[in-house]
Amino acid sequence: MFRRIRSYCLLGIKAIPVSVEVDAALGLPGFTLVGLPDNAVRESRERVVSAIRSVDKVVTGFRTTVNLSPADLRKEGSALDLPLAIGLLTATDELSVPNLEKCVFVGELSLDGLLKGVRGVLSIAMDLVHDKDSILVIPRENEQEASLVEGLRYICADTLKECIEILEQNNEELVCRARGLDRQKFSSGLDVPDFKNVVGMEGVKRALEVAAAGGHNFLLVGSPGAGKTLCARCLPGILPEMCDEEILETTRIHSCARRSGDMESFRPVLLRPFRTPHHSASMVALVGGGARLLPGEASLAHNGVLFLDELPEFNRSVLEALREPMEDGEISVSRASGTVVWPARFMMGAAMNPCPCGYSMDPKKVCTCLPDARKRYQEKISGPLLDRIDLQVSVPPVETSQFACGSGAETSAEIRQRVCAAREIQRRRFAGLSFRCNAAMNSEAARRFAQMEGATEKFAVASADKMNLSARGYYRLLKVARTIADLRHSEPVEIPDLAEALRYRAFRG
Ligand SMILES: Nc1ncnc2c1ncn2[C@@H]1O[C@H](COP(=O)(O)OP(=O)(O)OP(=O)(O)O)[C@@H](O)[C@H]1O
Ligand SMILES: [Mg+2]
Ligand SMILES: [Zn+2]
Repeated sequence: MFRRIRSYCLLGIKAIPVSVEVDAALGLPGFTLVGLPDNAVRESRERVVSAIRSVDKVVTGFRTTVNLSPADLRKEGSALDLPLAIGLLTATDELSVPNLEKCVFVGELSLDGLLKGVRGVLSIAMDLVHDKDSILVIPRENEQEASLVEGLRYICADTLKECIEILEQNNEELVCRARGLDRQKFSSGLDVPDFKNVVGMEGVKRALEVAAAGGHNFLLVGSPGAGKTLCARCLPGILPEMCDEEILETTRIHSCARRSGDMESFRPVLLRPFRTPHHSASMVALVGGGARLLPGEASLAHNGVLFLDELPEFNRSVLEALREPMEDGEISVSRASGTVVWPARFMMGAAMNPCPCGYSMDPKKVCTCLPDARKRYQEKISGPLLDRIDLQVSVPPVETSQFACGSGAETSAEIRQRVCAAREIQRRRFAGLSFRCNAAMNSEAARRFAQMEGATEKFAVASADKMNLSARGYYRLLKVARTIADLRHSEPVEIPDLAEALRYRAFRG
């Protein structure tokens, strides 16, 4: 008999509907699997047949053909185990499921019939929720994930046996309806250093406040031990909350990146990600790809911060690969099987010393580098990359005398309040538009929303000209000035806002 079972496959983070077509006919026993399966899918037959034996059913003895459609999409992973099992059981009349065409199955099976979680269920749920009649059938390990998508109808089970029992009963009461994200259920304290323990460094703190308020990229340059890494690590404490939509977007990427071993430990990403890849990171680790098309650090930092400490130590070609996402907020990787696009709208943060010895900007110590070495060091950061960094901040060493008087500084919570107020202004400004923060504006929006008076605009143009800013540099200047004006709740951008924004563009090393 012929049966068609609905399921899903992942391409990057996109969930693509797949059907598993099973035809079991009388004839010489045999099993053929076609439709571009990868090794994990090909092996699924062995798992499925033993899992089925564990529920005391027999599906062998038929001439079985299985086709995975669409035939030109590469199917990978173990999520097709469950649909294949249901297909074999129904095609051989061992099981009859009322409303089979409404059900969509995903899940891995173990030899003894346990249902195991798979990655990417959030993407699948987000796609399926638009189809009001459908029911998603998943392993219980994936329940938390499915329950985030409000309105989704789903069934979850621990074993194949339990799954079969639920399906046979066809009882509407056994179908759960997802209630959506419940922040309370998952909330946890934020464990990051607080700005109140950072002595002095008012200029740096202010720059990070501006960066957090508008989502701007930043670069901290200063002597060794000046506190660059420390300040950057305090940043998560002043970042604004994510809205529900942002949480789903980010969690979805993290869900697709999970390894099969950690399925139980699912948590939605409630706090903005703060990713700190090591400088030895490879291209695939940073931008994503590889054989399994997993997202990289840049995508995992979506809606949060990608912090690259010791920037010049990164491989130059790896850094150059970040230019595209820094501009467009997404990464596309082309493969023979098609193009995969990952969202990657992150705030890029970086820290570096001004020269190999580290002291060329130090007021007290003497730099011992040869001019050539210093030049080579700075050339590791390409012009186009530097051009995309809105806030270039020099970090002067703190006077030792300041340590004696203690910090007496503002807490991160106080700074965060101002950041959140500025973000709220932006949220209202961009209602109905595709941007969420000032940094994401395109050039047309930057000009429109900067709202400068004639004299202010003249000042902006004249200064940009004097500083030889590129066209991109000019618009980025406007965006930073917009954020600075938002921080003081001002509708128009004024000359002092521009002047501060210009100061952040002055890195020459
Ligand atoms: N302003 C400060 N207030 C309090 N502690 C500080 C301050 N600056 C530096 N420190 C202390 O110095 C340590 C080193 O600072 P940090 O690692 O941030 O330096 P860095 O600028 O990143 O240096 P490098 O260039 O070598 O990476 C911090 O862990 C912190 O304990
Ligand atoms: Mg450091
Ligand atoms: Zn030096």
